[in-house]
Amino acid sequence: MGEVVKISRVEKCQGAIAIPSDKSLTHRAYIFAALAQASDRGGVSRLSNTLRGEDCEATRNAFAMMGKSSRHLSDTETELDCSGDWNNEPVAIDCGNSGTTMRLLAGVFAGLPGCNVTLTGDESLSRRPMKRIIDPLRMMGADISGDTAPITIRGKQLRGIHFTSPVASAQVKSCLLLAGLNATAPVSITEPAQSRNHTELMLQSLGVELDQDGLTTTLTPGQKWEPFSFRVPGDISSAAFWMVLAALVPGSNLLLQRVGLNPTRTGILGVFEQVGQTVEIGNQTDELGEAVGDVSLSYKVNLQPFEISGDLVPRLIDEIAVLAVLATQCHGKSIIRDAGEMRVKESDRIAVVCDALKRMGANVTEQPDGMIIEGPTPLTGTSIDARHDHRLAMSFAVAGSIADGETTILNADSVQTSYPEFWSHYANVTTP
Ligand code: S3P
Repeated sequence: MGEVVKISRVEKCQGAIAIPSDKSLTHRAYIFAALAQASDRGGVSRLSNTLRGEDCEATRNAFAMMGKSSRHLSDTETELDCSGDWNNEPVAIDCGNSGTTMRLLAGVFAGLPGCNVTLTGDESLSRRPMKRIIDPLRMMGADISGDTAPITIRGKQLRGIHFTSPVASAQVKSCLLLAGLNATAPVSITEPAQSRNHTELMLQSLGVELDQDGLTTTLTPGQKWEPFSFRVPGDISSAAFWMVLAALVPGSNLLLQRVGLNPTRTGILGVFEQVGQTVEIGNQTDELGEAVGDVSLSYKVNLQPFEISGDLVPRLIDEIAVLAVLATQCHGKSIIRDAGEMRVKESDRIAVVCDALKRMGANVTEQPDGMIIEGPTPLTGTSIDARHDHRLAMSFAVAGSIADGETTILNADSVQTSYPEFWSHYANVTTP
């Protein structure tokens, strides 16, 4: 059994939090730094504010094993050197709990002639669907054995493809764009709704030309870039826990600093608009095409119910669990649908969230592709299992903070995946 955390009702929630760095962007910073072409100025990319969670460290470690060394210079600075030769020995890379590591690196290595890589994962990752990337990679000519982790990839030059993805998934899109970097013809992917576009923005900021036509992105192979500097913005998916906590704890007032505000990730702001919760954005800047700003908000009485469906879903897919906690305190019926993807994340998030919130006293009806939550209902502390899913451990901490009595969260150590400082930030801004 992993770590057990006990949470009691929070009386006040106030202060400022430097939001930890974006997980999606840290993965991509390492990937693009490793794939850069060393110039006469050398091969080192300088990355600051990198996320030190286990998922991103798995990606960094994967490149170290493949010949692209990196080091953390301080708590916030990392450099990665692309000038080492690629390792063509057979290598087993442990992707841990990280779907992004496995799916994006499968694309990188499938198109890297000579490499021989086996990607393994923990119990949760070994159950997650990989055919969504393996099928199109095989259409490109990739040599991959296994349909779920572990998968073994023998890299080679791939063919181009025009792939219409049945799921709006940035991991599928990014995997194929990465696989296509040195293909014999263009790679083009059409998605059913816009998923996060960090890969496209980073490629374009590094000088790579992409053709974008509605939901279709096309990459012409053979384009190169040099090592770069990038300061990773904070992760709106991590800020989400504090946003919901501030909306629910009377008298709260929080300032969340340097939050990434890429429009393909800010669906939560639309939900806060529906519930009538004012969110203020200040100090807006830009990092390699990624919008960044400070987010502040205060407690609001009488929250309205909300609906999450359709194109909004990919814009807040990782925030739905904590938004379900918000829904338990909204006045009316909140509806979450078209979110079947939640069932194939680090856990079956629909089943686990519905079960936990029901046990705490919420009025929740599980649906195949989401849930219906009727509020407001008082929550009562009980023992709930986060199932080693980081976002559920943090969502349940928010639920426990507004519940009567004590909430015991089992398997809460998973916060290490994306937010190692979560419990210390929690202690800093909450008053029991
Ligand atoms: C991610 C994309 C999302 C998200 C995941 C990170 C990424 O998954 O849930 O946490 O970095 O590309 P999908 O693209 O599969 O929806």
